[in-house]
Amino acid sequence: MEAFLLALLTLTLLVNSTFCQNLQIHFYNTSCPQAEIVSKNISTQFFTADPSLPAGLLRLQFHDCWTRGCDGSVLIDSTEQNIAEKEAPPNLTLRGFEVIDAIKAVLEKECQGIVSCADILAMATRDGCAFAGGSAYDLKTGRRDGTISIMSEVNMPGPSFSVSEALANFEAKGLDLDDLITLLGGHSMGFAHCGFFLDRLYNFDGSGQPDPTISPNTLQTLLNACPQSLESNTNVSLDPKVFINQDTSTPFKLDSSFYQAVLAAEAVLQLDQELAFGNSTLPVVNDYVAKPDNFRKKFAKAMIKLTEVQVKTGQEGEIRLNCSVVNPVGSPNSAPSLAPSPN
Ligand code: HEM
Ligand SMILES: *[C@@H]1O[C@H](CO)[C@@H](O)[C@H](O)[C@H]1NC(C)=O
Ligand SMILES: *[C@@H]1O[C@H](CO)[C@@H](O)[C@H](O)[C@H]1NC(C)=O
Ligand SMILES: *[C@@H]1O[C@H](CO)[C@@H](O)[C@H](O)[C@H]1NC(C)=O
Ligand SMILES: *[C@@H]1O[C@H](CO)[C@@H](O)[C@H](O)[C@H]1NC(C)=O
Ligand SMILES: *[C@@H]1O[C@H](CO)[C@@H](O)[C@H](O)[C@H]1NC(C)=O
Ligand SMILES: *[C@@H]1O[C@H](CO)[C@@H](O)[C@H](O)[C@H]1NC(C)=O
Repeated sequence: MEAFLLALLTLTLLVNSTFCQNLQIHFYNTSCPQAEIVSKNISTQFFTADPSLPAGLLRLQFHDCWTRGCDGSVLIDSTEQNIAEKEAPPNLTLRGFEVIDAIKAVLEKECQGIVSCADILAMATRDGCAFAGGSAYDLKTGRRDGTISIMSEVNMPGPSFSVSEALANFEAKGLDLDDLITLLGGHSMGFAHCGFFLDRLYNFDGSGQPDPTISPNTLQTLLNACPQSLESNTNVSLDPKVFINQDTSTPFKLDSSFYQAVLAAEAVLQLDQELAFGNSTLPVVNDYVAKPDNFRKKFAKAMIKLTEVQVKTGQEGEIRLNCSVVNPVGSPNSAPSLAPSPN
């Protein structure tokens, strides 16, 4: 009996030591020393050609981490047997996939089967944030790729959530109110499509009126961009978009201008505007407006937390060879069969 327990203990320790390898700074410094520099080189070429891409990647990162952890599962395409995360309604216009694919293609040539798609997304997002004027945070790597991506599991917070609803959603991922307020600062750059805030423009809460909290100028801009006829639009590609941060001449800069918009009643999304109204949120908003450097520092910290949500490490998952496709079962790089089945 004792021998059995000892064996069990040894086995547990062994399994733990194999499975609990943590993320590390420069995880690839021996296995693929050029991973970070190649990734940055390629992503920077994309950002230079299209300065809006860091915003696309930042949102993609958030969505990846929210369903089954930061495991690259948002990158997986649907197959005949499976409808992937990408197809979920809130995916609307997720973008930046081409940046990940381009980096992956080069890294597969140089270090085959070594660098995960989840890490490539995390590196490109970090470099995008820095390109957009944020701080370059110390990103740990060593994420493994997930093998499961299921549309029905996507559970993103919605733009009409209250702060407390969004907070509950964040807390389920181990993030707190400060992280929520700070990461919403990502809405200082990029786009929002009309479908995400149309409910505020014509018939807010069934009132037949616009949301009374929107400033008159912003309301006019949004009404012009989003005609009421869009209420019957179901085709995402026909949905117009506006800058998600109305209070800036630098729509692709990651900075504290978002919080100024919130104070000026110029936030496009209802949840964003709510940050101005709560006792628990307004002091932080005021602080970021007064001290932009606080925002920079805390955003970087919150990104590190975000990119470590439910990561797979060690022997978990796999290193996908093509970020859009799970490795074929039984191929040298495929996940061990003890991986949970997608049912
Ligand atoms: C708390 C809940 C959040 C909600 C409800 C929310 C909602 C939205 C919505 C509706 C859009 C517009 C998407 C489109 O029209 O294409 C958007 C865009 C964006 N979100 Fe969020 N978001 C949230 C949190 C975050 C977080 C945590 C980040 C990252 C730190 C983030 C970064 C972005 C960025 C950068 C864009 C612009 C995307 C682009 O230009 O393609 N959001 N968000
Ligand atoms: C990477 O290099 C640093 C020193 O430059 C070292 O401390 C660290 O252990 C290395 N990490 C890995 C994963 O090899
Ligand atoms: C970055 O890419 C360019 C063009 O592909 C190449 O000429 C250059 O050597 C690369 N630089 C680094 C540091 O990898
Ligand atoms: C997002 O989902 C829609 C269906 O809801 C799908 O048509 C579209 O291709 C998806 N977008 C991406 C980028 O995968
Ligand atoms: C949506 O609109 C795009 C652009 O006009 C068009 O190419 C596409 O066929 C439309 N999709 C559907 C399902 O109607
Ligand atoms: C705001 O905070 C004050 C005390 O700091 C408290 O008395 C009040 O009830 C709070 N209001 C709301 C709406 O939470
Ligand atoms: C990755 O897989 C997708 C979907 O099957 C395919 O369209 C694409 O060409 C593949 N990319 C590479 C580099 O093989």
